[in-house]
Amino acid sequence: MAILPLVIAPDPRLKTRSEPIAEVTDEIRRLAADMFDTMYYERGVGLAAVQVGVLVRMMVADVEWKSDGEKGTQWVFINPEILSSSEEPHLYKEGCLSFPEQYAEVERPQSVRVRFTDLQGQRREENFDGLLATCVQHEIDHLNGVVFVDHISRVKRDIILRRLQKMKKQGVISHREHHPYQDHGDHEHVHGEHCNH
Ligand code: NI
Repeated sequence: MAILPLVIAPDPRLKTRSEPIAEVTDEIRRLAADMFDTMYYERGVGLAAVQVGVLVRMMVADVEWKSDGEKGTQWVFINPEILSSSEEPHLYKEGCLSFPEQYAEVERPQSVRVRFTDLQGQRREENFDGLLATCVQHEIDHLNGVVFVDHISRVKRDIILRRLQKMKKQGVISHREHHPYQDHGDHEHVHGEHCNH
């Protein structure tokens, strides 16, 4: 088990396209396990490898975990691609572990069909809807060097990035010190409200 340090915006790695994974090796499986540890510790519902500084096309998600630490379905997506999206839009106030304490409403398709390789090396196709669909689209964006603030107005984006730059300069960004996963039991977290990806 390892909790990895997060890449915090602004950072050029978050604007970089990640490389495909040729084979699901032990190293990849270890990275996936560490990404889950990091995601739960930081109280996120999704995490892309680039967010821990590894530029490969892998992301993990669990949008069902509970405040008491109980885990939901753990999804691992390797080389994911969106095959189709619904016409119906879904508006959601998104957050991101690489953008601490910053939230913005983003409109994305309500559901998507995704092809990906799982941790067993099996090629799969699945449909996702609602929060998990939002999360999957948010993480696939990360693999393409796109972040959620790229979907909002330039004015709002600049405000968020300036705020983060200032926080970084003052050294006040540390998820672990401010809200460790272990201390999470004292307030009920409701998924769907300000979830971090
Ligand atoms: Ni994110």
